[in-house]
Amino acid sequence: MYSFPVSLFGPGLIATLLSLEISLPNRFLIILLFVIAPTMMSSQNFASATDLPHSCARPGEVSVSHMDLNLDVDFASKRLSGSVTLSLDRVDDSKPLHLDSRGITINGVSTVDGTKLVCETGEAAGYLGQCLSIKLPAEVDKVVINYVTSADASALQWLSPEQTTDKQHPFLFTQSQAILARTWVPCQDTPAVRFTYSARVTVPPELMAVMSASNPQVRNDQGVYEFEMTQPIPSYLLALAVGDLEFREIGPRSGVYAEPSVLEKAAWELADTERMIAAAESLYGVYRWDRYDVIFLPSSFPFGGMENPRLTFATPTILAGDRSLVALIAHELAHSWSGNLVTNATWNDFWLNEGFTVYFEQRIMEAVYGRPYAEMLARLTLDGLLEEMGTLDERDTWLKLDLAGRDPDDGMTAIAYDKGYFFLRMLEENVGREKWDMFLRDYFKQHAFRSVTTEDFVAYLKQNLDPSVDITEWIYGPGLPENCPEVKTAELLEVEKQAQAFLKGSPAAELTVQDWTTHHWLHFLRTLPDSLSTQQMHHLDEAFGLTESANSEITHEWMLHVIASDYGPGMEKLEQFLTQQGRRKFLKPLYQKLAETDEGKALARRIYKKARPTYHAVSRDTIDELLN
Ligand code: BES
Ligand code: ZN
Repeated sequence: MYSFPVSLFGPGLIATLLSLEISLPNRFLIILLFVIAPTMMSSQNFASATDLPHSCARPGEVSVSHMDLNLDVDFASKRLSGSVTLSLDRVDDSKPLHLDSRGITINGVSTVDGTKLVCETGEAAGYLGQCLSIKLPAEVDKVVINYVTSADASALQWLSPEQTTDKQHPFLFTQSQAILARTWVPCQDTPAVRFTYSARVTVPPELMAVMSASNPQVRNDQGVYEFEMTQPIPSYLLALAVGDLEFREIGPRSGVYAEPSVLEKAAWELADTERMIAAAESLYGVYRWDRYDVIFLPSSFPFGGMENPRLTFATPTILAGDRSLVALIAHELAHSWSGNLVTNATWNDFWLNEGFTVYFEQRIMEAVYGRPYAEMLARLTLDGLLEEMGTLDERDTWLKLDLAGRDPDDGMTAIAYDKGYFFLRMLEENVGREKWDMFLRDYFKQHAFRSVTTEDFVAYLKQNLDPSVDITEWIYGPGLPENCPEVKTAELLEVEKQAQAFLKGSPAAELTVQDWTTHHWLHFLRTLPDSLSTQQMHHLDEAFGLTESANSEITHEWMLHVIASDYGPGMEKLEQFLTQQGRRKFLKPLYQKLAETDEGKALARRIYKKARPTYHAVSRDTIDELLN
C-alpha cells in the first residue's frame, strides 16, 4: 500500500523500547506515538517523491485532501469556468504543490484571503498536459485557482440538442478516467491520492446537474446545485453530468436518471439493482457509498459504464428491453468495492481495479441469476480474451503493465479485465470458495479508501491466503498460464452443435434455438466463420431477423459478419449503428473489420467523416489512429 513508511518504526524499535527502563504506560504511549500514529495520519496515500508514471503530483510532499469546486456551465462557449479551492496536507513544508492540468487557462492562484501566489506552468506534454507548480508560503494550507476549461477538453462532451435522445436540450457529461480529470479541474491526477469534495455548479435553469456525490432528485428553478462527497475518492472518479434529466426510484437506495423518454425503459431494465447490491454486500461487505444510482447518458458515451461513486454513468445501448445486458450494472456496482474503495495505485496496476471487478461481477451474476447463466458469461469472456490476446504485444499481456511513456488508455485491454478475472478464479479454485471469500472480504476491509500496488496485493496474498502460491507467470509473464481454470457450459456446447449443423447445410429455420438468450446468440454468431455466403446470411437473417435486432451486442456481432460477408441488406443498418451510438467497444472492431479491404476502408472513411463530430474524444482518438 502507498503509505507512510511505518517500517522505519517497525518491530526493531518496539523491541528496543520494550527493553528500556520505561514504565509500562509510557512505553505504550511511545509505541502508540511511533507506530500507530503514522498509520493513522496516512489515511492519505503517499507516493514516494517523483515516481508516479502519469502525474507530476508529489503527494509525499504536499497532497490534496479536499476540493471545493465552484463552476459555471456554459453551453454556448462549451466551457466550465470558476474556481477550485484545494485543501492541502503539507507533509514537507518546504515543498511547492504540483498539480496536473491540460488545456486549462489559469486566471489566478491565491490564498483564500486573496493573496496572490506564485505559479509556474511546465511544458505541455501531449496527453499528460502540463505541470502546474504553486509556491506555498508557510502556514498556507488552502489555495484557490480561478480557471476556464478549453472548448476541446477531452473529459467533456458537449452535446447539441440533436445529439441527445429527446432532442430538446443540450447535454454535458464528463469522463475522467484514466487521466482526463486534469482537462476540467487542475488536480493531483493520480489514483494514489484521495480527497473529499464539495461543489456548487450553475447550469441553465431548464437543466439538472448530477455528480459523483450527493445528488438532487428534482430540478430547481435557479439552476444552482450543491454537492457533497464525504468519502475520499481519487481524481479519476470526479464526474459531472448536466442535461434534461428526470429521476425515478427503483429500490430503497437506488434509482435512475435519464432523459424523460428513456426513464421508464431504464427503470424497468434495472429492476434487479437492489438484488445485486444485496448480493454484493453479502459477498464482500457493506456498501459504503450511501446511495447507488445510475444515469443513462446519450448514446455517444464512449464506454459501457463508468463507476463514478454513487452514480454509475451508463450507455443506453444496454437497454435491450429484456434485461439481458445488466451484467454491466453488476460490473460498475462491483467497482464500489474493487476500484473505488480499494484503488489501483497507478495505471500499471489497472488489473487490480478491473480484474477484481470482473471477478466480483461474475459472483454477483451467479448469486442473482444462477451458476449456469454466470458460466455462460464466463465462457464468452474466455473466448474474447483468447482472441484479443493474439493481437497484443507480448509485454502487454502481463497483468502488471509498464505504461511509462504511454497513454494509460493503452492498458484498457482484455488482459486487465479477463486475464485478471481468471487469475482470481484460479486462486479461488485452489483454496476453495469459503476461504477465498473470507480473504477477499478482509482485503476490501483492510484496504478501504486506500491505493494498492500489485506488489502490495501479492504480499498480502502470500501472508493471508497462501504463502506458496506462484503468481509469477500470471502477473509477470505473457499469455494465459497452464493452470487457467476451465469453463464448461453444456448450453453453449449445444449452441455450437447448432452452428455446425447450419454450416453443414441444415436450414436456419430448422435449428433448435428456442429459449436462446442474448448470450446463446452471441456464442452462435462467434462460432460461425466471419465470412459466410450471401445465401447463408440471407437464411440466417430471414429466420432470426438479425439485421433488425434491437440488441446492441447482437447487432455488433452480426455486423461483423455483414462486413466480412459483404452482405448488402445489412449495410444500411451498419451505417446507422456506426452513426447513432459512440461506444468504442462497438465502433473499433467494426471500423477495423471495414478497414481490412480497400472498398471497406473507403466506406469506413465516408461514414466516419459524418460520424466523427458526434463521437466523444476517447472514441475519436481510437478511430483516428485506426483509419489513418
Ligand atoms: N472503469 C471502466 C471504464 C474505463 C476504464 C474508462 C479505463 C476509462 C479508462 C468501467 O468500469 C468498465 O470497465 N467499463 C466496461 C464495461 C464492463 C462491463 C467491462 C466498458 O465500458 O466496456
Ligand atoms: Zn470496470
